[in-house]
Amino acid sequence: MVRPSTSWSLIPILVPGIIGKSLSHVKRNDTETFSQSLLRESMNWMDMYYDADAGYLFSLSAQALTHETRASAWYASGLLARNEGDDAEQAAKIIRNVIDGQHKNISSQWFGDYQIYPEEPTVGTAQYPPKIYNSWDPNWRGFVGTTFVLMLEEFPQLISYDLTQYMLESLYDTSIGDSYRVGGVDTDNLYPAYSNPSIMRAFVTGWVGRKLNESNMTIAGENYATQVIDLFNRDNTLSEFNSGTYAGVSLFALTLWAKYMPESSVMGANGGRMIQETWKSLASLYNANLKNVAGPWDRSYGFDMQRYLSILALQMWTLVGKSDAPIHPKPYAMGHKDDFAIGPLIAILAPFHNTLVSNSTLSALTKFPGTHTVKTSAFSQPFDTYPRNITAWLSPHLTIGAETFSENVIGGPATNPNSFNPAVVQWSRKDGTVGFLTLYAQVYELEAVASEGALNLTYPSGNSSSSFSFLVGTNSQAGKRDVASWDDVEGIKVGVKGTVDLKYSVTFNGLVGGSGSPINSFEFWNFTYTMPPGSTDIPQVFLTLEHNA
Ligand SMILES: *[C@@H]1O[C@H](CO)[C@@H](O)[C@H](O)[C@H]1NC(C)=O
Ligand SMILES: *[C@@H]1O[C@H](CO)[C@@H](O)[C@H](O)[C@H]1NC(C)=O
Ligand SMILES: *[C@@H]1O[C@H](CO)[C@@H](O)[C@H](O)[C@H]1NC(C)=O
Ligand SMILES: *[C@@H]1O[C@H](CO)[C@@H](O)[C@H](O)[C@H]1NC(C)=O
Ligand SMILES: *[C@@H]1O[C@H](CO)[C@@H](O)[C@H](O)[C@H]1NC(C)=O
Ligand SMILES: *[C@@H]1O[C@H](CO)[C@@H](O)[C@H](O)[C@H]1NC(C)=O
Ligand SMILES: *[C@@H]1O[C@H](CO)[C@@H](O)[C@H](O)[C@H]1NC(C)=O
Ligand SMILES: *[C@@H]1O[C@H](CO)[C@@H](O)[C@H](O)[C@H]1NC(C)=O
Repeated sequence: MVRPSTSWSLIPILVPGIIGKSLSHVKRNDTETFSQSLLRESMNWMDMYYDADAGYLFSLSAQALTHETRASAWYASGLLARNEGDDAEQAAKIIRNVIDGQHKNISSQWFGDYQIYPEEPTVGTAQYPPKIYNSWDPNWRGFVGTTFVLMLEEFPQLISYDLTQYMLESLYDTSIGDSYRVGGVDTDNLYPAYSNPSIMRAFVTGWVGRKLNESNMTIAGENYATQVIDLFNRDNTLSEFNSGTYAGVSLFALTLWAKYMPESSVMGANGGRMIQETWKSLASLYNANLKNVAGPWDRSYGFDMQRYLSILALQMWTLVGKSDAPIHPKPYAMGHKDDFAIGPLIAILAPFHNTLVSNSTLSALTKFPGTHTVKTSAFSQPFDTYPRNITAWLSPHLTIGAETFSENVIGGPATNPNSFNPAVVQWSRKDGTVGFLTLYAQVYELEAVASEGALNLTYPSGNSSSSFSFLVGTNSQAGKRDVASWDDVEGIKVGVKGTVDLKYSVTFNGLVGGSGSPINSFEFWNFTYTMPPGSTDIPQVFLTLEHNA
């Protein structure tokens, strides 16, 4: 097989399309760039799961030898980028499989979507009802569709004419299917404020429209993108604010806007700026000592970026190197590890994406710039009655971040209290690990203000039945195993006042015991404050927080 010169296996990479002006401020060692090491490590890991007979990856969560579609598509992009041995043939096999399994009934709501896994029964049968985000996931159109576009853009010479046509047909269908998505209709929740799939949807639709001369699709993509941009421009923030996982997806998708859409598209015109602003915001909240982005997090799959795998951390890997990024040397041992499968996409786009990250952002990713506060806001229509006000206070070893909101749901737009973290505290401990405290989301309305060493929380529409539950991470290996009071929590001194009853309960949610299960794979101590019986006060709790090395 002839190796095209864009092959990632060639060192150094030479081709302008891939490298461009790109690596100018990215450190590299003699043999491998940071993005190449991300590609290599994520591919080495996925190679172990590849089932060449089936042309699919086995499920990364090892479900009795079933396979999975999305990770297979991501892996295929890595195969093309690596392009050693029969990599390109295997990629072609995977791509065909994924498209063969695409939902083909144009009248069904899941038309053009991709299977969750190839062994699944037919969605929409009596025995396998169509349940959104369960038996089918509307966001798979975006995840697989963007991956197809990226492969067609980056590696056209490795994809046969026939397969290219098959991919374009598939992308056309997926764009039609995406057009069925209207927030609030048929249980769908795709509003422009649902940032990560919105950015992907606008992109795939707009790209396919241009590619196939379908002007309606081109216009639909532009219109959807315009709504996303308008929301963003309000305060230069993504509506889905500051989550290790989804800020990563949004940055990935905005990179597609910036790299593959022409200036004549609102996506091409705005993508780069939105990436710059998003990184500016992330950098202002990042504490390089703790290797964590301070709260609040609208949708997080963990409470400490050093212990769960975030897509943002993969982007940081390409910017500052693995050892300085919030990622464990063994990424596949972290919480939410399956997302390591997106590694190839992040690596392939890094040389372009990283040129958009400013020097001051880059510097904040490795060196904490000093104590400071952050004030910003984000808006998620139609859930928020007013924009969420965000405040954060960051000091070298303690960060506090919170957001005030009034929403028509509990647990954020995704109605998931396990991932919506409106008030978060993190601190460092002697052994370099990080402690956390997060308010469990139980209310429609919260006033939450972070300030120097303090967190002020009020439920304006609460009553005597209200309670505040703080989920607190377990101590470090050297710390106490048992926690019954704030004094037992390692690394922080907590003072409490307010209208709550100052007597509190402490329970434990553990892997195999205690009062309940871990959340996002994290065990925690649950400190709960209730109101005094019959109280007519507005529920309020004021925490003073001091790092206690
Ligand atoms: C296609 O979907 C429509 C709408 O759900 C359904 O009524 C029809 O039976 C489906 N057709 C096939 C062939 O499954
Ligand atoms: C789209 O239109 C352009 C310009 O008119 C033409 O060059 C191109 O071949 C067309 N592509 C398709 C897929 O029809
Ligand atoms: C494009 O949209 C117009 C206006 O809604 C419609 O009349 C036309 O049929 C559409 N064309 C295609 C190819 O879908
Ligand atoms: C960023 O830093 C690099 C390396 O120190 C330097 O060459 C470049 O001029 C800087 N860019 C800006 C915009 O300051
Ligand atoms: C949000 O912050 C702005 C600017 O500081 C302020 O004017 C506004 O009243 C705040 N809104 C709420 C609901 O706290
Ligand atoms: C805490 O917030 C409440 C509600 O906004 C406010 O009334 C109170 O004064 C604040 N307390 C402190 C100590 O800032
Ligand atoms: C407090 O508010 C909740 C929710 O609105 C309500 O269900 C409950 O009855 C109220 N409790 C009291 C004691 O008023
Ligand atoms: C925390 O503890 C309180 C009091 O025991 C309980 O009602 C609540 O459900 C617990 N929260 C979580 C998230 O486990």
